[in-house]
Amino acid sequence: MNQTAKGLDRRSLLAALGGGAALASGAALGGGAAAGLTARPAAAAATKPDPAITEVQDWSRFLGEGVAAHPYGKPSKYEAHVVKRDVEWLTAGRESSVNFTPLHELDGIITPNGLCFERHHGGIAEVDPAKHRLMINGLVDRQLVFTMDDIKRMPRTNRIYFLECAANSGMEWRGAQLNGCQFTHGMIHNVMYTGVPLRILLEEAGLKTNAKWIMVEGGDAAGMNRSIPIEKALDDCLIAFKMNGEALRAEQGYPLRIVVPGWEGNMWVKWLRRIEVGDQPWHAREETSKYTDLLADGRSRRFTFVMDAKSVVTNPSPQAPLKYKGPNVLTGMAWSGRGTITRVDVTLDGGRNWRTARLDGPVLPRSVARFYVDFDWQGEELMIQSRAMDDTGYVQPTKAELRAVRGLNSIYHNNGIQTWLVRANGETENVEIS
Ligand code: MTE
Ligand code: CO
Repeated sequence: MNQTAKGLDRRSLLAALGGGAALASGAALGGGAAAGLTARPAAAAATKPDPAITEVQDWSRFLGEGVAAHPYGKPSKYEAHVVKRDVEWLTAGRESSVNFTPLHELDGIITPNGLCFERHHGGIAEVDPAKHRLMINGLVDRQLVFTMDDIKRMPRTNRIYFLECAANSGMEWRGAQLNGCQFTHGMIHNVMYTGVPLRILLEEAGLKTNAKWIMVEGGDAAGMNRSIPIEKALDDCLIAFKMNGEALRAEQGYPLRIVVPGWEGNMWVKWLRRIEVGDQPWHAREETSKYTDLLADGRSRRFTFVMDAKSVVTNPSPQAPLKYKGPNVLTGMAWSGRGTITRVDVTLDGGRNWRTARLDGPVLPRSVARFYVDFDWQGEELMIQSRAMDDTGYVQPTKAELRAVRGLNSIYHNNGIQTWLVRANGETENVEIS
C-alpha cells in the first residue's frame, strides 16, 4: 500500500480510495438529497496533495489492539475532551454539587451513560445490590419489602425520558453568565429506562382509600426525600434499574431510582429505598427551603413540579464556534414536561425572521427531540435563538416574559429563550437581547 500510494498521482489515488474522489465532486452528499434534505457540497475541490491521503498512517501500517484490550468499551482517545464538567465556584464542596452534560458534543436524542450530568446532595452512594431493599409502608393494606431480585421478576417496560434539574439555567436569571450550553443548559440527560411501573408495586401493596400522596426516600447520605401526588405515582412513574440497556450508573442511583416523567429532576430520587403512602405532602426540606420559587412580592411558588417546554441551540454555541463559511448545520434540542414537542422555530437575526426547524429522530412525549437548520453562513454576525412549542399549545417564553411574571429572585424553572451571538470570526458568546 505504501509503495503503491507513492507511485500514484492524486487523481488515480482518489479513485483507488473510492470515497475520496466522490467527496471532492460533491456526490458523497447525494444520500442527504435523496432523503429530502437540501444539500450543497461542503467539501472543497482538492488542489494540492493532502498528506492525510498521501502518507500512510500508523493505524494502516500496524495491527491494532486485540479484542480483549478493553472488556468494557470506551470512546476513542481523540474524544477525550468530551466529558462532564463542573464549575468550581458554584458550590462549596464536591459532595453536594453538580456537573454538566457536554450537550455541544452530542447528537441524536440519547445521552450516553458516561456523559449524564450528576447532581448529588451527599455524594455518590455505592450501594451493594444484594443488600438493597425497597420498602413500601404507610397507608397500604400490606407493607412490603422488595429485594432487587423481586423487582426484576415483575413486569417491566422501556421508556425514553428527559431528566432536567429544576436549577438548570438557574445561573442565568439575572443575565447572561456562563459561556457554553454545557453550563447554561447541561443539567439535563435523556435516557431509555427499563423499570417496573410504580402502579404495579402500589397495587400489590394495596392503597387505602385516603392515600393521596407518596414520599420517596433515597439511601444516600443525604437521605433525600420528596412528596409526589398519588395521581402521578399511578400514572407514569417507573421504578427503574437500567438506563440505555445496562444497569444504572452509581452516579444515577444504582441499583434503583424513581423516574418521574416530565417533572423536576429533584423528585427522581436515586438509591430509592422507601416509598411511604400518606394523605398529605411531607413538606420536606427539598419542597420548602429548596426547590420553591421566590417571587418579587416575597411569596413563593411551591410544588412547581412540571418542567415547561424549553430548547437550546447546541451548535453553534460558545464551546462550538462556527469554523467555515458556506454550508453549516445548526442543531439543538427541545423538550417539554407537559407532553410532546410539536415545533421548534429558529431565528438567526435576533428574532426579526423565524424559520421552522427540521425535527429528526424519534419525537416522544417528555423526551428530548433533536432539531436542525441547514444554513449558509457568509461571515455575517448572527443572533441565534430557538423557541419550542408542545402539543398542549405551550410556547417557550422569552427571558423578559418570564421575568415579568417571576421577578429576579428565582433559581429554578428558567425556561427562557437563549441567545447566542456569532461574531464575524465565528466565535460565539452567551448574550441577551434587551
Ligand atoms: N436522589 C438522592 N437520593 N440524592 C440526591 O442528591 N439529587 C436530585 C435527584 N435525586 C438527588 C437525588 C437532583 S436535585 C437531581 S437534578 C437528580 O437526582 C439528578 O439526577 P442525576 O444525578 O442522574 O443527573
Ligand atoms: Co436537581
